[in-house]
Amino acid sequence: MQDRITTQYAVDWIRDRLPSGFTPKSAIVLGTGLGDVTHALDTVATITYQEIPGFPRSTVEGHAGQLLAGRLAGLPVLVWQGRFHLYEGYSPAQVCLGVRVSALLGATILVVTNAAGALDPLFSPGELLAITDHVNLTGKSSLAGPNIDDWGPRFPDMSRVYSQRLLDLAVSEAMRLGIRLERGVYAGVLGPQLETPAETRMLRLLGADAVGMSTVMEVIAARHMGMEVLGLSCLVNKNLPDCMAEVTLDEVIAVAGVAGKKLSALVEAVAGALAGERADRREE
Ligand code: HPA
Repeated sequence: MQDRITTQYAVDWIRDRLPSGFTPKSAIVLGTGLGDVTHALDTVATITYQEIPGFPRSTVEGHAGQLLAGRLAGLPVLVWQGRFHLYEGYSPAQVCLGVRVSALLGATILVVTNAAGALDPLFSPGELLAITDHVNLTGKSSLAGPNIDDWGPRFPDMSRVYSQRLLDLAVSEAMRLGIRLERGVYAGVLGPQLETPAETRMLRLLGADAVGMSTVMEVIAARHMGMEVLGLSCLVNKNLPDCMAEVTLDEVIAVAGVAGKKLSALVEAVAGALAGERADRREE
């Protein structure tokens, strides 16, 4: 009940600060060091997380903690710059607040980005990955507790979490831009510690191609509310059991800064394609 009240209060508060008639089509969640896409945004409102009633503050370096509303390549979007993680001690409901607010403000698409470690030995740091499916290893669910029937069903289907349509769009836009885009399964872990070699070996055995500490809570909440989801990872380190390398946050942010440029270009291109699609439909 509290989740519903907090969420609705934030929705009403944000709606009052958006230009009238502005309905977001997509929410975009930006991960660690991946804020670059905001430069291309034709911004109509900037709101810091601190201002929003009921919003937690993000505590991680590289997370600005602000919501931008605007048009990206013509598509009306809400950009959540900085996110909340379970490992910071936030509840699943706090982690998902922005996604739920976006859906209630009218967004039907979620583009979620993150920095992840590469488990597939053929992947390289600095490359991008489109998430085809995930394994939720956090031990949590954003849907535990009383179901809010207005938001979605008690037992939402998870057989096709990441939209094939958006995946195809991302692949074709990446090809057009000459950006290499891997595809694979994302394992979402609680963190904040990185994996031991034994854990990395286990993740690979479980069928994961990349691993990170975010995304799964938000994606589950988005699917619950019927949003179409595109997940894009920026591979920032190799995570291989037989040649484990130390990972530092500085390194993650540095690689994300470079690969983040490619990610931004791709997100912008996907937004442009989606905006064009809307225009095409209007012309029919
Ligand atoms: N493991 C877990 N989370 C991560 C990693 C990793 O190797 N890299 C970036 N986030």
